[in-house]
Amino acid sequence: MVCKENTLSIIKPDAVAKNIIGSIISRFETAGLIIVGAKILQLTYIQASEFYFEHQKKYFFDSLVNFMISGPVFVQILEGNNSIQRNREIMGATDPANALAGTIRSDYGYNYTKNAIHGSDSKKSAIREISYFFDT
Ligand code: PPS
Repeated sequence: MVCKENTLSIIKPDAVAKNIIGSIISRFETAGLIIVGAKILQLTYIQASEFYFEHQKKYFFDSLVNFMISGPVFVQILEGNNSIQRNREIMGATDPANALAGTIRSDYGYNYTKNAIHGSDSKKSAIREISYFFDT
């Protein structure tokens, strides 16, 4: 079923530092996803901890949060048909080594932590994550 929806995408500090925001955005535009909100932010430890609260018991929580505050991030809302699933296909698997060729993480990711991009993984997450960063 085709469903027009919004999803949250974050270009992570590794990709922002590599100056590839435009290269990543052009992939969304080529796929027909529309950027309907965007901003560059320097997250605080508290903000990153709140955003990733579902991982707070995981062994990697501190390193994830510290990485996400290591530099600016580019936060955006992507709109389009089935945008949550399509965005995740464009991103590729979390571990760049397992990501399909031609995906963002395959092309620009380095490891599980420095993997260039975040995308909401469900409708519920998308609603929470968008409202965390944007007044909609
Ligand atoms: S899980 O346990 O399956 O829910 O986790 P996963 O989906 O693989 O990853 C969730 C997010 O945590 C990041 N991650 C890490 N960060 C730092 N260090 C390690 N070892 C690590 N492993 C996973 C991963 O990049 C995911 O970030 P997001 O932004 O959600 O894609």
